[in-house]
Amino acid sequence: MTNKLLGIDLGTSTLKIYKKGSQIVFDEKNVIAIENKKKVMAFGDEAYDMLEKAPRSIDVSYPVRNGVIADIANMETLIGCALKQVQKGNFRSGYILVAVPTDITQVEKKAFYDLIMNSAAKVKGVGVVEKPIAAALGAGLDITSANGVMTVDIGADTTEISIMSLGGIVISKLIPVGGSKLDESIKVYVKKKYNLLIGDKTAEHIKKQLANAFEEEEQSVSVYGRDVVTGLPKEMEISSSMVHEAIIEYINIIIDSIKMILEKTPPEISSDIIDSGIYLTGGSASIKNLDQLISRETELQVNVANNPEDAVINGLGAIIEDANLKTLSTIVTSSSNAMGRRLR
Ligand SMILES: Nc1ncnc2c1ncn2[C@@H]1O[C@H](COP(=O)(O)OP(=O)(O)OP(=O)(O)O)[C@@H](O)[C@H]1O
Ligand SMILES: [Mg+2]
Repeated sequence: MTNKLLGIDLGTSTLKIYKKGSQIVFDEKNVIAIENKKKVMAFGDEAYDMLEKAPRSIDVSYPVRNGVIADIANMETLIGCALKQVQKGNFRSGYILVAVPTDITQVEKKAFYDLIMNSAAKVKGVGVVEKPIAAALGAGLDITSANGVMTVDIGADTTEISIMSLGGIVISKLIPVGGSKLDESIKVYVKKKYNLLIGDKTAEHIKKQLANAFEEEEQSVSVYGRDVVTGLPKEMEISSSMVHEAIIEYINIIIDSIKMILEKTPPEISSDIIDSGIYLTGGSASIKNLDQLISRETELQVNVANNPEDAVINGLGAIIEDANLKTLSTIVTSSSNAMGRRLR
């Protein structure tokens, strides 16, 4: 393995890049704005600011949806722009590690290889790391020992529940529920209860301010939207009890899936998890009291990783910085059949 390693986490909501020796060097919204179907107008946070505001000639979109790259051409362009920004033309030749979903096929892994190779010049090779492995390392867990560990990564469009031991995934389940589902539900409730139409960003803002897995003392935030009846802009106070009602159904789906995985976990590993508890990662792990509710429902200790939204990218960073962890990544070559060679 040569130096000049970079790590990339292609999240549904954020794109993060780790650079060897420099930690996280790019952490922006995974959004691109294209003008007249060809010119890149903006990418990252700047493009995000244009969402729901751009004229018809500018197409602002998220290339990753439900944890899967839905728009390959735009994703390549966006990675290329981000790499150029962080490398400032210095990336002579090196490897790039990408965090990938667990249950993807060899063909899909090859698609990640093509994506990275096409996005920038001078990429020497591509290594893939399964997201739960990266999330666990980023949460500071030792996954190479025979002690079983459990992580629940709650991102924007997906939640991945995983049991790991001896550097591999024992069981994993990916469900299409994450922070964006909560945002959508808040939008629907605000319309139903207050006759107010709000945008996606406002819904996310309400969630970050008021979302609570428990019903605690009433709080409110003031937001702007459009009155459904009069059609006019209006300011309204949104209550935390309404937000709780809007999100709890989805939180319960996540908890039911956690219980399902626990039921399938081999008993010897279950006893390890009783000792160490469940680790929550991903941006949506910051929802207030979510750890407490999961703990109450599973009767297990639940820990939230430090900076949970950075767990996956920091896990790639751990592999990049620590030679002893290199075996946790796999090189992908141009022939998809050549999978399985370990990164050294
Ligand atoms: N303080 C907070 N409270 C509640 N939700 C939050 C908070 N901070 C971030 N989030 C949510 O976390 C999500 C983003 O998390 P993350 O960056 O882990 O997702 P991602 O990796 O882009 O998505 P995915 O893993 O599903 O592809 C968003 O839905 C965001 O609204
Ligand atoms: Mg993620």
